[in-house]
Amino acid sequence: MAGRSILPSYMLNDPVLLNDWHVVARSSAIASGGVRAVRLLGRELVLWRNGEGAHAWLDVCRHRGAKLSLGRVHGECLVCPYHGWRYAGSGACAGIPAHPGQAPSAKARAEVYRVEEHFDLVWVCLGTPAQAVPDFPEWGDSSYRKVSAGPYLFRASGPRVMDNFLDVGHYPFVHARFFGDSPQFEVSDYEVEATDSGLLARDIGVRRVWKAGPAGAGETVQVKYSYRVQRPLTGNYTKVHGAERFSMMDTVTPVDEGESLVWSVMALNYLSETTDREFLDYQDKVTGEDVPVVESQRPSLLPLSLDDELHVPSDRLSVAYRRWLAKLGLRFGTC
Ligand code: FES
Ligand SMILES: [Fe+2]
Repeated sequence: MAGRSILPSYMLNDPVLLNDWHVVARSSAIASGGVRAVRLLGRELVLWRNGEGAHAWLDVCRHRGAKLSLGRVHGECLVCPYHGWRYAGSGACAGIPAHPGQAPSAKARAEVYRVEEHFDLVWVCLGTPAQAVPDFPEWGDSSYRKVSAGPYLFRASGPRVMDNFLDVGHYPFVHARFFGDSPQFEVSDYEVEATDSGLLARDIGVRRVWKAGPAGAGETVQVKYSYRVQRPLTGNYTKVHGAERFSMMDTVTPVDEGESLVWSVMALNYLSETTDREFLDYQDKVTGEDVPVVESQRPSLLPLSLDDELHVPSDRLSVAYRRWLAKLGLRFGTC
């Protein structure tokens, strides 16, 4: 869907996602005085920053409906491009240039959403947050180097994209040139623990090439993956080989029913000789391999009925993901 979403479908009003946190930008992308247009769940939002911090509002001026994102920051206010109404950080109109002596009506107020900034990302909740912003414990651990990648555009539904993140079985096929197409590929058996706060799958053993990234070809070894699904569209994994650890948090922004953005935050304690740019180039290529496959999946919405697909033991986590989404009552991006 392009342009304005006048009548969002029931999916775009899914309470599970309306009351959840979603990334809309990198914090550094909205410098002080910056204004940016973004989309989330079919809504057009304006992001801007003043001395109080970052703000996310519906991108509509209450006067004649012009896009506030075409305006500019002046002092501590966002100024509409059309007739210059000035909006304070609270969303209240603070001044109408054509009538300097007139106090703006209480109705002259932007629609304001909650904003938090973590991991150099701007998180927005369109409703009332049902939980805290997802966590990435390695972010505060100085023994890890951090690299942020994306956003990556997938013309696919959010749950389909998240399901790909949770899938270890595709590595030697979609990512053969980086992870190796080991003839001994096999996914070890594992359990999935469903908790109130999500899903945990520990120590999934996979044979793959280690250090296959920008450092070049590595040896094929047994690597252990552990996954944590925190929210319907946010998950973390850690892969371990000896003392070397790599953790990633992927969060998928539901721009629309059929459009998603993936933001990846990574933390690793090896490959110190590799530059961030080399690492990002590698990550861009790996994610780029996922895009056409995920976009090809039919139905384009993630089936929650287990009868609609075939499952094998290595799919345990994605089966648990479908069950968990059904239990949460998620309708967005699912069928
Ligand atoms: S439309 Fe914004 S000030 Fe008139
Ligand atoms: Fe992948």
